[in-house]
Amino acid sequence: MLLILKRDNEEVNKQAAQLIASAIKKKPSLTLGLATGNTMVGLYQHLVRLHQAGSLDFSKVVTFNLDEYLGLSASHPQSFRHFMHEHFFGHVNVPPHSIHIPDGSIRGDYDQYCASYEQSIRAAGGIDLQLLGIGRNGHIGFNEPTSSLASRTRLKVLSRETLDDNGKSFGPGEESPRCAITMGIGTILEARKILLLATGASKAAAAAKSIEGPITCAVSASALQLHPDVTFVLDEPAASQLTQRDYYNRVVEMTARLTPDRLS
Ligand code: F6R
Repeated sequence: MLLILKRDNEEVNKQAAQLIASAIKKKPSLTLGLATGNTMVGLYQHLVRLHQAGSLDFSKVVTFNLDEYLGLSASHPQSFRHFMHEHFFGHVNVPPHSIHIPDGSIRGDYDQYCASYEQSIRAAGGIDLQLLGIGRNGHIGFNEPTSSLASRTRLKVLSRETLDDNGKSFGPGEESPRCAITMGIGTILEARKILLLATGASKAAAAAKSIEGPITCAVSASALQLHPDVTFVLDEPAASQLTQRDYYNRVVEMTARLTPDRLS
């Protein structure tokens, strides 16, 4: 686990964009797992800028999004498909057939649909790099507290905390979705590399529990401790409850000297 502590949101975005860009340069046909949410907006802006400056080509990249609300059509302004188009896919050259986002409009055999999403990930050779945000309750994707650490893509009921956080983006009187389709924790742990971004003081407790606390289904992101290649990039407010900040900074210093590839 590598912890990169940055001053602010902007520095987090820059570092994350650099890590993703260099992964794509090393492997142009990268299979990239993507996330939505406020944390990701600035990162996508950086990636779009790199693309528009001609230094980042997504034409061979294949993407899989983590999750989607159930019951929203693709064109709904709060759907994750809409978010991805607005912030990223509408401005870069990922071929439409290489974009995978769970379909929130499906009805009926959810298990079969979720198994087919897993099958598409396998058919693409697995995810090379999975991008994650984190919820205040420690969720990754929509794996709410008490999710099985071995869970796969499935239908998930959203927690009260998530409904409160995400409900704010829905209009007055508009009912926000209560369920989502999300990759499972087991699915996420199969990615070859994981990059988690956390910004802002509201994420401090979840980040500290995930990184320094026990592995527990009460904090889904703590399962990342089981993964051999995870990088967390946190800003100062999100890192404020970590007790070993000095150590993490020394590790980054040594990494820069000994294996600089891991940081760029
Ligand atoms: C979104 C996702 C969620 C978010 C998390 C943080 O695709 O999987 O786990 O990453 O809820 O959301 P923000 O960044 O809005 O605080």
